[in-house]
Amino acid sequence: MKTMAKRGQRILVTGGAGFIGSNFVRHWCDRADEMVVLDALTYAGNRATLSDLEAREEFSLVEGDIGDAALVAQILEQNRIDTLVHFAAESHVDRSILGPAAFVQTNVVGTFTLLEAFRKHWDTAGKPDDFRFLHVSTDEVFGSLGPEDPAFSETTPYAPNSPYSASKAGSDHLVRAYFHTYGLPTLITNCSNNYGPYQFPEKLIPLMCVNILLGKPLPVYGDGQNIRDWLHVEDHCEAIAIVLQQATPGETYNIGGNNQVKNIEIVESLCDLMDQLAPELPTQPARDLITFVTDRPGHDRRYAMNISKIQRDLDWQPKYDFATGLKQTVQWYLTHRDWWQPLLSEEYQTYYRNLYSV
Ligand code: NAD
Ligand code: TYD
Repeated sequence: MKTMAKRGQRILVTGGAGFIGSNFVRHWCDRADEMVVLDALTYAGNRATLSDLEAREEFSLVEGDIGDAALVAQILEQNRIDTLVHFAAESHVDRSILGPAAFVQTNVVGTFTLLEAFRKHWDTAGKPDDFRFLHVSTDEVFGSLGPEDPAFSETTPYAPNSPYSASKAGSDHLVRAYFHTYGLPTLITNCSNNYGPYQFPEKLIPLMCVNILLGKPLPVYGDGQNIRDWLHVEDHCEAIAIVLQQATPGETYNIGGNNQVKNIEIVESLCDLMDQLAPELPTQPARDLITFVTDRPGHDRRYAMNISKIQRDLDWQPKYDFATGLKQTVQWYLTHRDWWQPLLSEEYQTYYRNLYSV
């Protein structure tokens, strides 16, 4: 194992008020002398998630858009940032089908704006070797696997199928080009589906938890046999930290949970856990709430990550087993109604009615 460099002590985290970004901020904040979160606080960004950190002197949250070049340049310069970890994105496939424009704007144009600002900042500082721009991407850029296909590796050709994954693929290509053309010290991580605390209740696991708690139907798309490779968010944050400290610029790493599960199995497990942990809920068994609904257009069948490169090069592997992680997550949603209840806004209800035709 290589020695740990002292990198990321003056760090800008974009999208740090979202699900993975906020978990990463907590994971990293004790190591940083200066930590700035830049977040537009869209429907998915939540200031309350970070409220306990706002009193810390080395921490600040700037409400703003990654597409605002002047603002980004000012943050980089004033805070003498050496490391940028880029989570900010429009992140939900179903929303990308309903309205793709915001995905192109934030994920492609926004990432381009950040790259340009960071390149100028790095240039002005004399191109230091230890600056880093780490771009957080997804396994969805690789497309969809059949049942017998080998898992995605770092050399699998890109074949994105949704407006979301196409916009993430576009941003990955820009990051790659900035390394090859300008020598900007970039890194790319492509991770599989994350789960854990602070995930917005539009994604599968938090949506099902919240709907069980509200006694609402649990909408399973198509035949429920689609497979995702589930990764606990804390394992993901640990992997990002290791990549940041140890990886060579220009590298890409796949991060996954070695944990392929069918959607219907997850929904059934969530129902059973809720029956066990919240026996006072009116619908028992919660499985009675499961409702098969019309499939998502272009729904990718299976994702799976081959993580041998990060295991071999950086000695990382996921620590959580899924049963433990899922139980902990259910418990978190059970005990954090004050966090998720305010998110069920008028905008959320409209989105929900639109998507699920209810
Ligand atoms: P999220 O939707 O929970 O959070 C995204 C954050 O970005 C929010 O706080 C939002 O306010 C902010 N944001 C959106 N547009 C912005 C803009 N224009 N300027 C500044 N901030 C903006 O997303 P997440 O699940 O935490 O995902 C984080 C990153 O990880 C994304 O890049 C996503 O593509 C990637 N990813 C997520 C998963 C997953 O399972 N959640 C899997 C693979 C990759
Ligand atoms: P999601 O959490 O949206 O992540 P992604 O589409 O990026 O993988 O969905 C995970 C899986 O769950 C995916 O196969 C779609 C399915 N799904 C449902 O069956 N019902 C739902 O209401 C949602 C949100 C997702």
